[in-house]
Amino acid sequence: MAALSLSGRAVLVTGGAGFIGSHLVARLLAEGAARVVVVDSLRYGDLANLGASSERVELVRHELGSGAREELDRALRGVDVVFHLAAEKHNQSRDAPERVVRANVEGTVTLLEACHAAGVRRIVYTSSLYAYGRMAGPPFVETELPAPRTVYGMSKLAGEHLLRWHAARSGCEWNVLRYLFVYGPRQFAGMGYKSVIVKTCERLLAGEAAVVHGDGEQTLDYVYVDDAVEATLRAMTGERTGEVFNVGSGRGTRVVDLVAELVRAVGGDATYRFGAADWTAGSSRVGDVHKIAGALGWRAAVPLAEGLRRTLEWTRTQPPSPDS
Ligand SMILES: NC(=O)c1ccc[n+]([C@@H]2O[C@H](COP(=O)([O-])OP(=O)(O)OC[C@H]3O[C@@H](n4cnc5c(N)ncnc54)[C@H](O)[C@@H]3O)[C@@H](O)[C@H]2O)c1
Repeated sequence: MAALSLSGRAVLVTGGAGFIGSHLVARLLAEGAARVVVVDSLRYGDLANLGASSERVELVRHELGSGAREELDRALRGVDVVFHLAAEKHNQSRDAPERVVRANVEGTVTLLEACHAAGVRRIVYTSSLYAYGRMAGPPFVETELPAPRTVYGMSKLAGEHLLRWHAARSGCEWNVLRYLFVYGPRQFAGMGYKSVIVKTCERLLAGEAAVVHGDGEQTLDYVYVDDAVEATLRAMTGERTGEVFNVGSGRGTRVVDLVAELVRAVGGDATYRFGAADWTAGSSRVGDVHKIAGALGWRAAVPLAEGLRRTLEWTRTQPPSPDS
């Protein structure tokens, strides 16, 4: 397929008021998009994430999976390309499987139907490491048979298949990105489960010891949000389409090393202690990133220590979140 420039285009971003989506919107404006339509329920997203309003950004408050289809049809009028990021995420909806399916599966079908009617040219869909399912073993590769174990992971994988179905009948170009653990400023810090990074930053800045659950040998693949956004743009503008790509650093970081790095960044008497093991005990989740490097020329560029430092600085500027 031909490369596609975003300059002067009308772009729609679902989940654009959320963590990754809001960074993507800022980048799209910088790339010269003529119009960025953000479709978001604002259940987890925040208008403040979109920063100073630009007249090129239009927010459509709509809940995928339950909102009226006409709202989507209106939002898609004149839109060339769609980034589909909105989702009920594992951590936030663990006890609400129906809500996950409604938003991520039914919501995706309806969005794709609306994209078909609107003649959208290319869609980038953000899937997840949870589509793979396994918690241990060698790095995930795109060619392995996914076997998700959570309703969230199943719903993200269903979204990938629905996109293929949509492309086969409409000729729409597409790419799927399976993000590993994306971190950075604006990472969701509301009620409920928080990522290790958000929790650790908050504890350390409150003057408490950080907690490493279990032996700290759990290994995760962290990718800074600006890098994830760059990969997402390349998936939209590059010549390769119809592909699934992992988006990660390709490197495993032990939780104990991650926490120690944050302790170093805070300095002073900051410290950590070991606590009870949790469900992540013994896990290793890392992405193989050779495919995206070869096809899109993308590699994570922000070193972990630098990304953590930026995240920590941002957390300092935030009021404490509800259950910290
Ligand atoms: N953050 C990560 O580490 C990570 C890892 C793997 C995959 N992902 C995927 O990346 C995407 C973005 O994740 P994020 O971390 O920015 O999450 P986020 O929760 O910060 O953003 C998601 C946005 O979608 C909106 N939303 C949720 N359900 C909606 C619905 N039914 N209709 C309309 N809007 C809805 C929320 O209000 C929020 O603004 C998701 O698709 C997620 O599955 C993220």
